[in-house]
Amino acid sequence: MCGIVGVVGHQKAESFILEGLRRLEYRGYDSAGLGVIDRAGKLHRLRAAGKVQALADKIPAGLGGTTAVGHTRWATHGAASDDNAHPHMAGRVLVVHNGIIENFKSLREELAARGRTFSSQTDTEVVAHLIDQEMQSGKDPVEAFRAVLPRLQGAFALGVLIDGESSFIMGARKGAPLIAGMGEDEGYLGSDPLALSGHARRIMFLEDGDMVIIRKGAIEAFDRDGARVERALVPAETSHVLAEKGNHRHFMEKEIHEQPEMIGRTVSHYVDAFENRVHDISGLDFRGASRLVIVGCGTAAYAGEIARYWFGSLARLAVEVEIASEFRYRDPVFLPGDIALFISQSGETADTLEAMRLAAAAGVQTLALVNTAHSTIAREASLVVPTLAGPEIGVASTKAFTCQLSALACLAVLAGRHRGHLDRAQEAGHVASLLAAPGLMVRAIESEDEIEKLAQGIAGYPTVLYLGRNQYFPLALEAALKLKEISYIHAEGYAAGELKHGPIALIEEGMPVIVIAPHDALFDKTRSSIQQVASRGAHVIALTDPDGASALAGEAARIVTLPSGSQLTSVLLFASAVQLLAYHVAVYKGTDVDQPRNLAKSVTVE
Ligand code: F6R
Repeated sequence: MCGIVGVVGHQKAESFILEGLRRLEYRGYDSAGLGVIDRAGKLHRLRAAGKVQALADKIPAGLGGTTAVGHTRWATHGAASDDNAHPHMAGRVLVVHNGIIENFKSLREELAARGRTFSSQTDTEVVAHLIDQEMQSGKDPVEAFRAVLPRLQGAFALGVLIDGESSFIMGARKGAPLIAGMGEDEGYLGSDPLALSGHARRIMFLEDGDMVIIRKGAIEAFDRDGARVERALVPAETSHVLAEKGNHRHFMEKEIHEQPEMIGRTVSHYVDAFENRVHDISGLDFRGASRLVIVGCGTAAYAGEIARYWFGSLARLAVEVEIASEFRYRDPVFLPGDIALFISQSGETADTLEAMRLAAAAGVQTLALVNTAHSTIAREASLVVPTLAGPEIGVASTKAFTCQLSALACLAVLAGRHRGHLDRAQEAGHVASLLAAPGLMVRAIESEDEIEKLAQGIAGYPTVLYLGRNQYFPLALEAALKLKEISYIHAEGYAAGELKHGPIALIEEGMPVIVIAPHDALFDKTRSSIQQVASRGAHVIALTDPDGASALAGEAARIVTLPSGSQLTSVLLFASAVQLLAYHVAVYKGTDVDQPRNLAKSVTVE
């Protein structure tokens, strides 16, 4: 996750940017940079690897800029170096960027074929070239930017400055946060309100797909179709509260929407996007492993259950998954060559911590998959494999779960390579699919309106059944947990193949049955489960992909069509859909979504 800050019309733009970058430093701190237009209208670019102070040390005295954009970087594509630091430039165009441009390789090839040369390994540089190319063909900067945005796939936030144009800066967002602000005869751009606090008097939280032109005293916003839109400008005094929630009613909603950015950030930590390879992790070798033991609680344990399918299929590695509260009290047997992986968002869950201590005492290597770097589990593990979901405030886990899945998918690919079950091309295919996940998830989340319409019907029913097969079985368990904990509706998740062994007795007229049904090798089997419950009166809601939707037409009462993903990524897309469904049912019922009754975010007692 990187940080963006921009200003138009400030008397000393470069010091404003440095102040904003210092506040955003928590978002990424391997390098920083800025572009600033001086009093004479000349553009300067300054970049430095390391902390913001290294950049501050490079700024010449008396620059006197009025318009600028800056960036703190958390490396995704390309190492942390001066050359890879933002801003990136082409011709008169200067760009800062947060997120991943998923199709950057094909765009880069296209631009190179037209004679353009690149000075960095980043995905961002293509954006500068594309805008410059449009301007060379005669478009003005705004039109050029507008023409380029639909060509960019992935999840991103962008800030753009044009040499010689000190009267405006431009921004755009898709799946990564970006705000605009207004002050006394000044305009601002930022990744979050923290960057602008003390300066902006009013804040505009941009919607996904928006583009903005920010001038002194005026902000023009355009939606994803290029239509001019009015977005509310809220007083900055209250924006520190909204800062955290943005335009969202609840943290949970915000965190569901943040997922494309956070899974992108997590995957980027584990892979080399140029080589499409998973990085080796010092101290982790799956070659000699006899078994992987995965332990966690609740949602974290379900992430482990899903990953079991991946480690088995990609790495032929035997996996046992267990909830920590059972594991620690059953006198577990450890085998020579075991690796034990403990999954925890908070890193403080008491049962998971004690289970890890048990494994450590038995001499087993302990890996901690945690979201909180300084937590107890992280400190005590032999090796930390992080998720980079950022702070999760909503009690019901959403982005931490999908980041756990993203990291586990990378580890499964690594294990597959270590154990000789994935060749170079297969590994590259899996990594490419993981890098494409943020963009697909943006599209999955676009189904929110459709999903919201299903909420009322579900909210009126006392019990809900979720079905899935293969890796979608543990996702069905997670979906049921999500609905239970925030809407207080009884829900069960079942393996679709188990239906006839009991739960089908529950089915009665009108009962909601939500089936996760991707069009994969087991689709026909899932489809027959749909037919079995539908013929007994169930109200079937099928979550599927385009091929599944055509096959199921007329067989399910409602069909929600999500984008097709890969073996590793489609579960992420379905996860966002079941989270949205639980969220909207809870909102419809009027429960306390972010702090549901009886629950706590971090369970530090047994
Ligand atoms: C459910 C949920 C919980 C946690 C569980 C483990 O939405 O959030 O089931 O997953 O309490 O917490 P961590 O991951 O912090 O160990």
